[in-house]
Amino acid sequence: MKKFAVFGNPIAQSLSPTIHQMFAEQVGETISYEKILAPVDGFVGAAKAFLAQEGAVGCNVTMPFKLDAFNLAKVDDQAAKDAQAVNTLMNSINGEVLGYNTDGVGLVNDLLNSGVEIEGKRVLLIGAGGAARGVISPLLKAGAASLTIANRTKAKADEVATAASNPKVQVVALEDIASVAPHIIINSTAASLSNELPCSLEDGVLQHCEVVYDMVYKNSPTRFMRDAAELGVKTQIDGLGMLVEQAAEAFYIWTQKRPDTSDIVKRVRVIVE
Ligand code: ATR
Repeated sequence: MKKFAVFGNPIAQSLSPTIHQMFAEQVGETISYEKILAPVDGFVGAAKAFLAQEGAVGCNVTMPFKLDAFNLAKVDDQAAKDAQAVNTLMNSINGEVLGYNTDGVGLVNDLLNSGVEIEGKRVLLIGAGGAARGVISPLLKAGAASLTIANRTKAKADEVATAASNPKVQVVALEDIASVAPHIIINSTAASLSNELPCSLEDGVLQHCEVVYDMVYKNSPTRFMRDAAELGVKTQIDGLGMLVEQAAEAFYIWTQKRPDTSDIVKRVRVIVE
């Protein structure tokens, strides 16, 4: 049987085993997919031990191990290189461990599935952590006209933008986000988990805004989504579709089979709610 796993710390909350079992059932594969809690300083050993097992195909990697996974793997995937973070590892035929980052593709595919046009749009990205890093190059690849990062700690946004090294990537102070006149605002922070807004939605910030996207999927609609709706933004999307799409991309990398995600997002939503 093909073996998979997800590594994190904490990991109990992970929906990845459920999602991948749904994919496997849909495409007629029998797999095992376990959650593995690795010690904070013990990811590399744990991942290598898993991948050395007979039948191990690959694994997902979540907080706080994405940089460790990047350092462990051979990385050709541009999104992973740009993000300096890997969320998917795979044993190659010649014994190497390959690393990919499917988070950004997951976000872009979810936006496109939801009918959102990215091409030519001004995107405002709130937050400058690992979640933000992972989505920058895929959003630019999808044709965003500009991508402006705003973060509570501005120096971190500057660092992320410098690393992206693309003239379309800019930084703005959180107080000045209205100057971006964004069409799409993406919240990559965890502010919604504590019912906080990641940024002000007042003072013209939403004047041109068509879509707000919150990477958080718990307690959806989040305050960020609800307030944006009240202030007239037509489309609000939570991160559940991104979670399923990043998993689908990983499943495709491992099996060369692409699951139909629409039905699965609905089934996972029932579990989350
Ligand atoms: P992740 O890998 O999930 O992105 P992270 O690297 O810890 O997690 O980054 C969290 C991001 O959310 C940071 O940009 C953080 O802002 P700071 O750099 O100022 O810490 C942002 N963040 C977290 N809680 C927030 C809140 N309540 N309001 C605004 N930004 C918040």
